[in-house]
Order: sequence, then structure tokens, then C-alpha cells
Amino acid sequence: MHHIKNLDKLPPKRENVETLEILRQLSKSSKSLGELKGIAQIMPNQEMLINAVVLQEAKDSSEIENIITTQDELYEALATKSIDGSQVKEVINYRRAIFLGHDLLKKQGYLRLKDIEFLQKTIVENNAGVRSMAGTVLRNDKTGEVVYTPPQEKEQILDLLSNFLDHFNLKQEDTPPLINLAILHYQFESIHPFYDGNGRTGRILNILYLIINDLLDIPILYLSSYINDNKSDYYRLLNKVNKSDEWEEYILYMLKAIEETSKRTIDKINSINNLLVDTIELVQSKEPKIYRKELVELLFEQPYSKIEHVVQTLNVERKAASRYLSSLEQIGVVASEKIGRETIYINRKLIKILKEH
Ligand SMILES: Nc1ncnc2c1ncn2[C@@H]1O[C@H](COP(=O)(O)OP(=O)(O)O)[C@@H](O)[C@H]1O
Ligand SMILES: [Mg+2]
Repeated sequence: MHHIKNLDKLPPKRENVETLEILRQLSKSSKSLGELKGIAQIMPNQEMLINAVVLQEAKDSSEIENIITTQDELYEALATKSIDGSQVKEVINYRRAIFLGHDLLKKQGYLRLKDIEFLQKTIVENNAGVRSMAGTVLRNDKTGEVVYTPPQEKEQILDLLSNFLDHFNLKQEDTPPLINLAILHYQFESIHPFYDGNGRTGRILNILYLIINDLLDIPILYLSSYINDNKSDYYRLLNKVNKSDEWEEYILYMLKAIEETSKRTIDKINSINNLLVDTIELVQSKEPKIYRKELVELLFEQPYSKIEHVVQTLNVERKAASRYLSSLEQIGVVASEKIGRETIYINRKLIKILKEH
């Protein structure tokens, strides 16, 4: 049965969110996340890493909302700038929103309501902003049953958002930040301030919150892949807090998501790094004349590269760039494919790593 209960302001009662089990899981999650932060710091090319990981997150988070796009379509769209599929566009918008949010944090160190509105607007490409008309409810996808009714009055929504932001931006707090991240995510989704894009905006806020609290330096934690694999629990547990104010299972879920995705990301970073080192060695030994570190790194920043990319990155003539890419194809570093009129050079080994969980 669905009943309407007023959404409480933050913070929840401490004894509900800091149980023994939660604290036990917290130490595991913190450890894994700390390792991820450390490994990311020693990566030689952070830009490359962010690019690779963020696109995967954009795809996964959008998939939770059933916007499904293949990785190849995405990379092709990025390389050729031919973005027609609206699903591809939504994923690319999500990625742009992550970068915008990260830039905002670097500049000002906190987020304001208008920043969150800006992120949501980037994701959904409309100007509606915070809900001002009543009628938004959350339904079970399959049965159509109403599972949760968020606050309807704009004034109440704004009031709850301001309370949310106070806790989001506050660094020095009693609650450990990872527990607070779970609480904040629940709160944001339950305020459900927008007509659409609340899930995706909320998941970007998660990454940004980790950065605000110095738990990560760059946006590379993939909660969405875990949520996709455990989607029905995600919805069920958000709903459980709505209905009964029982936090433990939901917070444990989010903490496990952090532990699990940190480990997956560490594995992924190590694989990418090994491939980068192997590729550099291969080019140095087989094609020493064309070897340039920036050339190899380009193939990792743009797993779908074009001649034009090489021209820009290395500042060489088109003819030379084309020759470099052909040589790299000869030794198996990239594989070429015709897409429309263009030839794209694909770093297939990297794509394979990015696709793996
Ligand atoms: N019972 C619930 N209580 C609060 N939030 C929920 C509940 N069920 C689902 N959600 C959140 O609502 C999101 C969907 O809202 P929506 O505005 O359509 O976002 P998006 O378009 O990004 O999916 C889900 O991804 C989830 O985060
Ligand atoms: Mg939606």
C-alpha cells in the first residue's frame, strides 16, 4: 500500500544510520576507495583515465533509466561528431555534465542550487528547472503502481533543497562522509526536484561529493555499473527508507556499491596502464622512427582516432599523420574501419578493457 508521508529534513537520527554493521562495512569501503584514490594519483595520464572511465559511467547511469547505447556507437559519435541518435546524445550530455560539475568544484569548491539546475539542464536539454507543477509521482515500471509521491509544492521543494545543500557542502560533520553520501543520495532522489533527470543528476552529485570531501581527486568512481547489476534492490531500498525510515539495508547497499566499484575501477586502471606500457614498448621496438609518447597516448584518449586528431596533437602534415596511423595498424596497435567517408583507427584492446566490468 502506498501512503504519503512528509519527507523529513536532514539529518536522520544517528542511531538509525550508524549501526555496528554499517560501521563495519564503512571501513571496508573506505579502504577500497582510498586505494583507488592512491592508484589514480600515480597514473601518468589522468586526463586519459577520466575520459575512459567517465564515458562508461555515462553509459551505465543512462542505462539505469533505460537509455541504452552501445559503447561503439558512443565512441564513434565522439570521434566523428555525428550525433544523431537521441540516446547517444543523452549519454554524451551526461558525460558533459560530469565534466561541468567537476570544473565547478575546482573553481568554487561547493555547489549552489543553480549549479545543480545547470547540471540537470545539461542532461535533459530543457529549461524547466525545479518542479513548479504538481502531479509528479514515482511508479513501478512494470505494474504502473505508484510507489512514492515526492513533495509537490515548489516552496517545500526549495526548502528541502536548501537543507540538502547545507549538508552536501558541509565538510566538517559528525557523520562519516561515505554514510552521508548514501543519506544525501536518498534525500535528493526523494525530493525529486525535477520533472526528469533526477536519477542521473543525483548520481553525478555522488561523484562530486566524494571530490568535495577529498576522497577522490578526479571523477572516476562508477557507482552506476553496480546499481545496474543490482537495480531492483536499488529501487526497493530507496522505497524502504521512504516508507519506514529504515536506513540500515539501504546504507549498506550504497557502501557495498562503493567498495565493489572501487575494486573494479582499480582493476580497470591497472589493465589500462599495463596496455599503455606494452603499447609504448611495442611501438618503440617495431616503429622507432615514428615513436612519440603523445602519439600513443592519443590512442588511449581517443580509442577511436582519426587522422585529424594526429594532425592536431602532433602538429604534423596530414600525409605524415596518415602514414603514422598506417604503420601503427601494421604492427597491430590499431585497426582501421571506414565509417561513412571517414577512416577511424580503433584501439580495440583498450575498448575491450573498457567494456569489461
Ligand atoms: N522509491 C523511490 N524513492 C526515491 N527515489 C527513487 C525511488 N525509486 C526510484 N528513485 C529514483 O528516481 C530515479 C528516476 O527518476 P528520473 O527523474 O526519471 O531520473 P532519470 O531521468 O535520470 O532516470 C531513479 O534512478 C532513482 O534514483
Ligand atoms: Mg527519467
